[in-house]
Amino acid sequence: MSTDRYAVVGNPIAHSLSPDIHAAFAAQTGESMSYERIEAPLDGFVRTVEEFLGGSGRGLNVTLPFKGEAAEWVGKLDPGAAFAQAVNTIVEDPAGGYVGFNTDGPGLVMDIERLLPGRTGLSVLLLGAGGAARGVVAPLLERIARSLTIANRTEEKAQALAEKLDDAGYGAVEAAGFDGLGGGYDLVVNATSAGLAGGVPAIPASAVVGAFCYDMVYGGETAFIRWARNAGAVDCADGLGMLVGQAALAFELWRGVLPEVEPVRRALAAAGS
Ligand code: ATR
Repeated sequence: MSTDRYAVVGNPIAHSLSPDIHAAFAAQTGESMSYERIEAPLDGFVRTVEEFLGGSGRGLNVTLPFKGEAAEWVGKLDPGAAFAQAVNTIVEDPAGGYVGFNTDGPGLVMDIERLLPGRTGLSVLLLGAGGAARGVVAPLLERIARSLTIANRTEEKAQALAEKLDDAGYGAVEAAGFDGLGGGYDLVVNATSAGLAGGVPAIPASAVVGAFCYDMVYGGETAFIRWARNAGAVDCADGLGMLVGQAALAFELWRGVLPEVEPVRRALAAAGS
């Protein structure tokens, strides 16, 4: 019997931790599978996916910049992926074809539930209104947020996302720019890409005073975390737990068993990820 093959497709992909995470899950659960990195050319996502899945590939993770293209390629979308218009997990459909899921938002919520156990009804400030933010807003509202403020450098984009949520029946969403943001939030989530260039979203310190601050990017003490601690956050976490959580949920969709996240997250953190 041949080993089932899985992979993560992106560009660039060399530094992806997903193969290490899935290898750890496979060892933990005794599943027989392999998991590799595939770099697709920027104009060759569909070709790359069809080659892999048309051969011995059984499922895929998709990362930047292809999550939107993946949502267009799959025949069916899970409701979460349909709202985000972004797919990070492609799963075989027993009826034929493929279904697209987005496990990023549920992975974030899973990590916040670990960090803030038993806390629901949170007042949440989300920074950013791009693809990363779109992937997490609905699960935040469904599972842990009593109210959500979406703040973006370009305020119109925050307004557009808030309206989309309103149209989809989610209440209690406000949109804002960065200037004049108040405070009193329980949780502040950084979903901007400012950190990729070493920057920090230019929000007033009042927005994070007394809040738990979560950076969706991983890497220990990120620029946002350093800033937030100085500005008066009660505690902070990077996105490593979200990364391992979204992988665990993808693994469950493919293999039918949910692996344990925490030992894998701890091992990666101890190794400096
Ligand atoms: P992603 O898929 O990572 O979300 P994106 O869709 O290009 O990427 O969105 C990037 C997000 O990061 C946007 O919300 C962007 O704000 P603008 O809409 O105003 O561009 C935000 N962003 C990027 N660099 C930023 C910076 N230096 N300060 C604040 N926000 C920033």
